[in-house]
Amino acid sequence: MAELQTLARWIKESSRTVALTGAGMSTESGIPDFRSKSGWWNNIDPATVATVEALEENYELFQSFYAARIGGLRGCKPHRGHQILAEWEQRGFLHSIATQNVDGFHQQAGSKQVCELHGSIRTVRCSTCEQRTELDAFLAGQSCQTCKGRLRPDVVLFGEMLPQEPWQRALADIRSAELVLVIGTSLQVYPVAQLPHMTQGRVAILNYEPTAQDEHFELVIHGKAGELLQQLNTQI
Ligand code: APR
Repeated sequence: MAELQTLARWIKESSRTVALTGAGMSTESGIPDFRSKSGWWNNIDPATVATVEALEENYELFQSFYAARIGGLRGCKPHRGHQILAEWEQRGFLHSIATQNVDGFHQQAGSKQVCELHGSIRTVRCSTCEQRTELDAFLAGQSCQTCKGRLRPDVVLFGEMLPQEPWQRALADIRSAELVLVIGTSLQVYPVAQLPHMTQGRVAILNYEPTAQDEHFELVIHGKAGELLQQLNTQI
């Protein structure tokens, strides 16, 4: 495919490439995304589970939703595409990854420079006293041992501020990037969806379906992230 050859050349020429990934990066690992036909939000209204209101007013549904997502990670692991991004970092072809994903798969695959813009589902804290606690306590529906408050995973809920350090780091990296690889995201959730517009460099989208922003960017390749990254990797 000519586009893949072009993108492989851009990656080899770029002195600073940054990847921006979303849930489509993990579906080939067996993790559902959100807005595809088989995505989470086709069966559940995010307002009822992924908001502070849900945490405060509908804790049972909130806890069961995140417990299901945490349980869904069991037996799943990073796929070849995650590993290729980690190898490109080691080989100097990828500077960092800004991810909306909370599954930790980029780090598990060996990537070191990862900005988790929407937090992590692998760690838990008390929503009242912020005391960190064990994942199993949250999965068991327990309350905080210190203050009896409600436990929650360290994911960013709709309406919450993004963690400042990862956001500032991702923004700086993308601003100064020569190439941004947008992989497996519908680019519908702000402020992350704004990031590709902040770069001085080129932007290439690798996504299974068209996104709302395809027309704004130099290169759009539709396909599966794992497969496209493997094809690209043969040329890098
Ligand atoms: N390869 C490439 N693209 C894929 C693949 C795949 N194997 N599987 C799915 N996709 C694409 C889908 O076509 C879709 O456009 O990935 C995109 C995933 O989009 P969303 O489900 O909207 O996920 P994302 O963009 O990461 O959502 C952003 O929304 O619900 C919140 O906090 C949540 O971080 C999430 C944010």
